Amino acid sequence: MPPPLLNVVGLRKDYGHTPVFDDVDLTIDAGETVGLSGKSGSGKSTLGRCILRLEEPTAGEVYYNGADLLKMGKKDLNLVRPDLQMIFQHPETSFNPRMAVGFGIAEPLSYRTGTRPEEVLNGLADLLRRVGLRRDQLDRFPHQLSGGELQRAMLARVFSLQPKLVIADEPTSMLDVSVQAQVLGLMKTLQEETGVSYLLISHDLEVLGAVCDRVAYMRNGTVEKADAG
Ligand SMILES: Nc1ncnc2c1ncn2[C@@H]1O[C@H](COP(=O)(O)OP(=O)(O)O)[C@@H](O)[C@H]1O
Ligand SMILES: [Mg+2]
Repeated sequence: MPPPLLNVVGLRKDYGHTPVFDDVDLTIDAGETVGLSGKSGSGKSTLGRCILRLEEPTAGEVYYNGADLLKMGKKDLNLVRPDLQMIFQHPETSFNPRMAVGFGIAEPLSYRTGTRPEEVLNGLADLLRRVGLRRDQLDRFPHQLSGGELQRAMLARVFSLQPKLVIADEPTSMLDVSVQAQVLGLMKTLQEETGVSYLLISHDLEVLGAVCDRVAYMRNGTVEKADAG
């Protein structure tokens, strides 16, 4: 049997002398959507960042396709970086406020391939259509788009890299319920098309119950359980 796409073993993160979480085990298979819930301040966001090594965990192992991300050098980590993406509650913080949204979408792929952003955008025409963004919206600045439109732009940016795992940290918490459903629906469609896995972080158990294969719960500094959903 192949290893799970992601296998987190005994992960721990301390701030100062206080553990935010300890002994966290979590697996995610290819194409799976796993929910992560828990009260505000329970450590969900910190866990998400530690899994992707945007922050250094204090102890533990994070296997991606069987290789421990925490033991990887810069070069190897750089190679797997595009596979492992994160989206946040406030997409506006991920876009440069002084640059057109289209540039922000094209930026990571442009950087990795050395292709001009305009050319990258042309190559992404199909993806942009799938996420429902029009050409004229790409020429606007981030503050000129709605929250839902910006989250679509964020999905275009992330999926331009053909990720294998996306950790979405409260991606729809700031959106109206109807827009929330649209964005979650789009994430589902993108999953069906690409086979991506999601770790969906949300305090909203109703949202998680609707879209997740199973839900893990963070309590008392660890991930408590992962029930069948
Ligand atoms: N950079 C940091 N330095 C110190 N403490 C932090 C830092 N980031 C988060 N914390 C603390 O870690 C705990 C977990 O925070 P967080 O992961 O944001 O929780 P959640 O996403 O579940 O609301 C909180 O008590 C928070 O105050
Ligand atoms: Mg959080």
